[in-house]
Amino acid sequence: MTDRYAVVGNPVEHSRSPAIHAMFAEQTQQDLAYERLLAPLDGFEATLRAFATAGAKGCNVTVPFKFEAFRLATEHTERAARACAVNTLRFDEGGWVGDNTDGAGLVNDIQRNARRPLEGRQVLLVGAGGAAAGVLGSLIAARPAVITVVNRSLDKAQALVASHADLGVPLRAATLAEAPAAQDVVVNATSSSLAGGASPVDARVLKPGSLALDMMYGPKAQGFLDWAATHGAEPRDGLGMLVEQAAEAFFFWRGLRPDTVPVLKALRSGLEGSS
Ligand code: ATR
Repeated sequence: MTDRYAVVGNPVEHSRSPAIHAMFAEQTQQDLAYERLLAPLDGFEATLRAFATAGAKGCNVTVPFKFEAFRLATEHTERAARACAVNTLRFDEGGWVGDNTDGAGLVNDIQRNARRPLEGRQVLLVGAGGAAAGVLGSLIAARPAVITVVNRSLDKAQALVASHADLGVPLRAATLAEAPAAQDVVVNATSSSLAGGASPVDARVLKPGSLALDMMYGPKAQGFLDWAATHGAEPRDGLGMLVEQAAEAFFFWRGLRPDTVPVLKALRSGLEGSS
């Protein structure tokens, strides 16, 4: 019987996860189907329960349900527990296991696809909401020299840093205006899509050759990417992170690691072709 999976969110119609998992399944010869599931804003749990009862094996969870998914999971991986957010659920006999593959996806994209080792580097994480919380633990695990978390509201940056302070990498919290200069890697994890080449932080955070990555892709990332390129940085959108987090989820469900390189390539040509 074909195993069923889905991405559950609201909105979800633009998700590229079905295409990614279809390519992974074909590549690894796994018999699975992966669909989009739109959950009403007040009906995430009911949607999940109906899907699991119908025999589904698991799902990805996207905006705005990652915190609710964390609450509904009966067991958590360490990285999901640290993030307090779940983007991947596996429906096991004994309960729902929640994982968070966003951070590993980001770090794998930076280190493997963009070929930027993070060890010993200065990293700036812009934002302190759910997206930032989902990746901080994995960034720390890559052992940068220091990670600065800057946010519009300082208290959220401070809380995020405090919840990861025991992991052995120096962490700083600051306002957007206090963002440090000349960072090796800048990650935009804010939800603000600023048009016209704008960024939540000043261009002094960049230096020639900095990697400036926006966790979004498509038109939403364009303002930040243009800003980065204008100031001599290497811009990178979130498409590679999306593929890498999907590969981690695929491994969590199926125990197999797909090759992400051809999948990212195929998505890029599709994206370029459609814009
Ligand atoms: P997500 O799950 O996408 O991270 P979130 O938890 O609502 O969504 O977090 C949104 C992030 O984007 C926060 O860091 C938020 O800053 P505040 O915590 O100060 O609200 C940031 N953000 C949203 N709009 C912004 C803007 N116009 N300028 C700067 N930061 C913004």
